[in-house]
Amino acid sequence: MSINAAIIYGTETGNTEYIADLMKKEWNEDIDVHNVLNMDLAIFEQYELLILGIPSWYDGQLQDDWDEIFEDLETLNFKDKIIAIYGLGDQQDWGLYFVDALGALARKLLSQGAILIGEWPIEGYQFVESLGINDAGNFYGLALDEDWQSELSEERIKTWLTQVKTEFGHLQQLKVA
Ligand SMILES: Cc1cc2nc3c(=O)[nH]c(=O)nc-3n(C[C@H](O)[C@H](O)[C@H](O)COP(=O)(O)O)c2cc1C
Repeated sequence: MSINAAIIYGTETGNTEYIADLMKKEWNEDIDVHNVLNMDLAIFEQYELLILGIPSWYDGQLQDDWDEIFEDLETLNFKDKIIAIYGLGDQQDWGLYFVDALGALARKLLSQGAILIGEWPIEGYQFVESLGINDAGNFYGLALDEDWQSELSEERIKTWLTQVKTEFGHLQQLKVA
């Protein structure tokens, strides 16, 4: 049975949207894609699995359209919502703040009771600091660097989406049991 899922992204220069489209292709099932810009917030509550994409801007800030709705996210019910997140960043030029926004979004969702899946190892990246890393020492979700490692993105996406589907499946089984 296919998963009722959506990818929701925000973007300044199109990279996070490009990745959303790649993910849609790799997903191999129906999946909706939404730009968070001017999006009805109720859409967040319409899916059983959310994949959220956010780039980091200007010393680790949220991308503008995410920033716009960030506080309003608190009006939504994320309790036990299964969410996987991906973050875009630049590990070389912004290595002190690499994918910081990924962490900000993760902590927001966790504080509202969401279940985050798809954490990702930090091996294979070179950065100085990141607020996108969880207590276990992994990125909260998939970190992608279209500026310096675009050639790795497709393979990373394939591996990550497989992981996301597997973890989602396990959680669904637990719910049924
Ligand atoms: C002015 C500027 C500021 C940036 N700041 C950060 C940052 O603080 N941390 C980071 O990891 N990447 C940073 N980046 C890199 C972007 O996140 C990266 O280029 C990303 O792919 C942009 O995605 P978008 O096109 O979807 O907006 C910055 C890029 C620019 C041009």
